[in-house]
Amino acid sequence: MPHFAARRAAFTRKEWALIVLGLATWVAIIAVAVWFVHQMTRSQAACGTALEARSLKLDGAEAARSAISRHFEASFAPGARVLDVGCGKGRDVVALLDMGFDAWGVEPNDAMRARALARDPRLPGRIAAAGLPGLGQPFGGGFDAVVCCAVLMHLAPDDLPAALEALAGVLEPRGRLLLALPEMLADRLVDGHDPDGRAFANHAPERVQALLADAGLALLRSEEIPTSSAETRWRVLLFER
Ligand SMILES: C[S@@+](CC[C@H](N)C(=O)[O-])C[C@H]1O[C@@H](n2cnc3c(N)ncnc32)[C@H](O)[C@@H]1O
Repeated sequence: MPHFAARRAAFTRKEWALIVLGLATWVAIIAVAVWFVHQMTRSQAACGTALEARSLKLDGAEAARSAISRHFEASFAPGARVLDVGCGKGRDVVALLDMGFDAWGVEPNDAMRARALARDPRLPGRIAAAGLPGLGQPFGGGFDAVVCCAVLMHLAPDDLPAALEALAGVLEPRGRLLLALPEMLADRLVDGHDPDGRAFANHAPERVQALLADAGLALLRSEEIPTSSAETRWRVLLFER
């Protein structure tokens, strides 16, 4: 101890300055690293796991199966050709393939699409870059079913009619559309953005139903999903063309 005290007393002003600078640099590096991890965690939670990890709290950070996947076999004919619009990291496309459906996906975000393509060797060739409302006819169109889960809230209310028309437009006659729509507490939304800063609009299920009726689709089923979230409610809606 006397040894250390003697050494401490011997530090010059320049040495003290270097020590303080070194400590400040480490604090800055750690702060940046913490911020980066926080941002990554937030964006992971925001997409792909939105309906589960944050709202339903199923089995951990990323449940192996999404909440909407429980509806696939009861909603679509066996082996149906299904398009997942806004497929994110591709979890539902994988689930659909596992269930024997002929599944395809579109996703406009490059990073999410890359995650999907790396997820499963069956996905390259089955995932394309496209989004709403300019969906077009991916993979030649003519789908027996479309899944659009936790996506429409990212569209502005003015874009909703064209987006729903586009979803209806890729369906065969008698084709089915399965939607998962959130409703976030209004006071959590600021200028059309959620607390994570993403564009977010609460689209009333009644408006969605009316717009899809204009596009020739009838509501078959509407069901609220029980969630543990006090701020967001989720509804699953099934339509038929
Ligand atoms: C919350 S994530 C849901 C991902 C996936 N559907 C799921 O349930 O796991 C929202 C996804 O919608 C995509 N998205 C955002 N705007 C979109 C648009 N205009 N058309 C299609 N997808 C969009 C995002 O890139 C993201 O992958």
